[in-house]
Amino acid sequence: MAGKLVIGNWKMNTRAQSAQALAAELLADAATNHEGVGIAAPAVYLAALAQQLKGGKLALSAQDVSCYAKDGAYTGETSAEMLADIGCVYTLVGHSERRQYFSEDNAALLAKMRNAIAAGVTPVLCVGETLAQREADEYKTVIADQLAILAEIADGEYVIAYEPVWAIGTGKVASLEQIAEIHAFIKNWCLQNVGASDKIRVLYGGSVKAENAAAILATKNVDGALVGGASLDAGSFRVICQAAG
Ligand code: PGA
Repeated sequence: MAGKLVIGNWKMNTRAQSAQALAAELLADAATNHEGVGIAAPAVYLAALAQQLKGGKLALSAQDVSCYAKDGAYTGETSAEMLADIGCVYTLVGHSERRQYFSEDNAALLAKMRNAIAAGVTPVLCVGETLAQREADEYKTVIADQLAILAEIADGEYVIAYEPVWAIGTGKVASLEQIAEIHAFIKNWCLQNVGASDKIRVLYGGSVKAENAAAILATKNVDGALVGGASLDAGSFRVICQAAG
């Protein structure tokens, strides 16, 4: 497996100028201008960022991709081929905010995964349980249901991100024991259902910050991090990327 991967998820933040300024800071720093680092920027800024990142090592990621593969009458959509066309290396798929606010279900997410892989964009499938599901002790069933689409994918590279919904943007980070438990569970699920689990990177996401990154990234089966809030600050993001080695 390649080294650890850290992706900064900017979500619906930045403007043209602040996005370019943040990217410039990341490009100027060897800790962030690194093969193992990506930025998932708002769709409207991707093309300009792709130009700016040219020649650098930092990978560009989209935050979402269309479930429709071919060009056509899908107003508002961005296809995987369009993302590949401008140089996106990754796209997030099924982030919990997409599942929650845009009712994305497994059928749509499987189509997104397939479209991304076919276009040569590596999808990062996000999975994770809500607080109610954790408290009801249903979290493993929920995560297995979300992972199930991977068994429908014959081949192609992808990344998985475990993001407990209750830890996203809340400052409430999962304990190292909770992280280790789920990452082992996901690796084991992959081994049993898709094989070759040693090639699939499993990132942790949910309130990863400069202060907790080293301990999280040193946890068994954690192959990187998906970072929201802290990725909007170059200084914090650099510390997290450094912790990934
Ligand atoms: P957070 O977001 O780091 O702000 O908790 C993580 C994510 O949603 O990817």
